[in-house]
Amino acid sequence: MQTGTSKLGGMTTSTLSTVSIALGERSYPITIGTGLLGQSATFAALPSAATAVIVSNTTVAPLYAQQLQLALASKYKSVHLVALPDGEEYKTWQTLNLIFDALLEQGCDRKTVLFALGGGVVGDMTGFAAASYMRGIPFVQVPTTLLAQVDSSVGGKTGINHPMGKNMIGAFYQPLQVVCDLDTLKTLPDRELSAGLAEVIKYGPIADLKFLDWIEANMDRLLARDVQALAHAVQRSCEIKAWVVGQDERESGLRAILNFGHTFGHAIEAGLGYGAWLHGEAVGCGMVMAAHLSQRLGLVDMAFVQRLTALIGKAGLPVVGPQLHAQDNVGRYLELMRVDKKAEGGEIRFVVIDGPARAAMRGAPDALVREVIDACCI
Ligand code: NAD
Ligand code: GLY
Repeated sequence: MQTGTSKLGGMTTSTLSTVSIALGERSYPITIGTGLLGQSATFAALPSAATAVIVSNTTVAPLYAQQLQLALASKYKSVHLVALPDGEEYKTWQTLNLIFDALLEQGCDRKTVLFALGGGVVGDMTGFAAASYMRGIPFVQVPTTLLAQVDSSVGGKTGINHPMGKNMIGAFYQPLQVVCDLDTLKTLPDRELSAGLAEVIKYGPIADLKFLDWIEANMDRLLARDVQALAHAVQRSCEIKAWVVGQDERESGLRAILNFGHTFGHAIEAGLGYGAWLHGEAVGCGMVMAAHLSQRLGLVDMAFVQRLTALIGKAGLPVVGPQLHAQDNVGRYLELMRVDKKAEGGEIRFVVIDGPARAAMRGAPDALVREVIDACCI
């Protein structure tokens, strides 16, 4: 971790910390700070190329693309912008193709560097485009949501949704650098800030109880967007994610713990229609359901479930699951969860908490899962 402040062109740039992802030749830094986006120095270590393409969306591009374009102009002869439609419902083949269309129209070659400027949707799609255009071109993540800064921009999972299942098509493909400019969080809607807090909270029960204590003690500062609090939340989340991904890049085991709450959460997202609930909202509620399942499996006590539920609620997230079907709600949840990537031979696998700061993946009897869904849904 490094710390530094510099004055460039009248603007103060602060690198509050750098977290490293150690993956041999695919290692890269996560730069966390303020005023980073508009400074060419932030991107100094990237390889040279004739062309850079910023992939963003119609909401984020008007806010931040120009700053980034200016910062990149000294390094790349041409810097193009692709603004995708905004929303989880656009995380599709059709939208992905818009990126390929633009890359081909601009004559982009194998050295072209893609910059994903936006939240997790833009980051996942840009990463997948980078993984597949000409069989792989370099890319950089410039996440502008809290969720993307603490989770989706780090670790190399890229992809798109299929109507039948979330993130079902994609690739593991690591960026060259992740740049988390905390200033971008100032324009984030409150609901999106809360969604990001779901993924921050996730790291506590699965890996670090001291961090869980810290989140509880600092939730008001986080909701008030205190920069120092956000910087710590982003840094600690990235450290934990780096630690997990460094041991299990392609999720053959350990990495699955990062999906705590996601089995129920993905069912909520797909069942309600992508975009109805935000990903972080579905994960927040999914963690409540997964905590109840852990309790019914005898792995944690009710006090833990209540503690986690209270924290998720305090972050402004839903703690009661939605009805996904008027006649057979439980059946619909089960049907959707069987399409989860962790399912094996049709058996649903859940990330459960099975000790202090310890998570594991396991199956659970259908009857127990049915009880949990019944108890947790309106
Ligand atoms: P998102 O990308 O849809 O962004 C949320 C909203 O905020 C969008 O409307 C966006 O345009 C807007 N926005 C972004 N930055 C802004 C800013 N600074 N100011 C104002 N508005 C801004 O959603 P998200 O929560 O960032 O990401 C969710 C996605 O990430 C899901 O598709 C999920 O599957 C994926 N994800 C991927 C991973 C991974 O490891 N690859 C991990 C977690 C989540
Ligand atoms: N967000 C889950 C993972 O990156 O593995």
